[in-house]
Amino acid sequence: MSAPIIRSLAELRALTRAWRQAGESIGVVPTMGALHEGHLSLVRAAKQGCDRVIVTLFVNPRQFNNPEDFAKYPRTELADAAILGPLAVDALFVPDAAEVYPAGHSTVVSVGDVSQPLEGAHRPGHFDGVATVVTLLFNMTQADRAYFGEKDWQQLQVVKRLVADLNMPIEIVPCPSVRDADGLALSSRNQRLSRKARAQAAALPNALFDAATAMAEGAYEPEVLAAARDTLAAAGFGEVEYLARCDSESLGPPIPGKPSRLLAAVWLDGVRLIDNVAVG
Ligand code: PAF
Repeated sequence: MSAPIIRSLAELRALTRAWRQAGESIGVVPTMGALHEGHLSLVRAAKQGCDRVIVTLFVNPRQFNNPEDFAKYPRTELADAAILGPLAVDALFVPDAAEVYPAGHSTVVSVGDVSQPLEGAHRPGHFDGVATVVTLLFNMTQADRAYFGEKDWQQLQVVKRLVADLNMPIEIVPCPSVRDADGLALSSRNQRLSRKARAQAAALPNALFDAATAMAEGAYEPEVLAAARDTLAAAGFGEVEYLARCDSESLGPPIPGKPSRLLAAVWLDGVRLIDNVAVG
């Protein structure tokens, strides 16, 4: 059986009100659909941590800085509802754009410093779109906990900052990236890779893990980063938008004694891939 689809906020509110009255906790897994094992791992974590689980499916137009990317984003609602069936989620909330952004909607939520570098610099407006829709989805679902993948590391830090700064009564639960056998992090965008490019794509996580190990062992960082770029070019990758080691939380320059992370956005076969790994 497929997951029960709910499209209207009124219907969702009736459910969440009843759950709250019964003293049940609510978990939310925000998604843009095209669900894969990475999403399912978030749902499983939510099922373990909460009495009720809502998965949201909304391809948020406001977080796409490129209209072509928005148009090409995979939309597979029926398959998504089916894949969630065995996990017995309580609701798959699939609002349309007018439910999320009714006429006259004009509020934008903008998170400060952590949303500026990396994705923020290369995708202007992206994190305003994410922060705005996440705020709306948290308010709509009234969830106690929200589950986010570490694959989108910067997004996770932006959402944590948002919740802390606005005193939102919700706990953000980070979940590890899920990788294919060859190491490529699962992503809805991977579907757009040709067979040849998919075979080349594992060079990205391999280069990141090798570079992170070398850095942790004290190798000279500029040389390590240059070698990683060379590896990616040799493997057939195109433009490297960024490849940088950052402080794990602020995404600013690494801070001695604090955890750091190596993050990258790279093009392959007309598809933009992002990934990140811990250093040390
Ligand atoms: O990570 C995503 O899929 C999206 O950015 C999110 C969190 C569902 C907001 O649209």
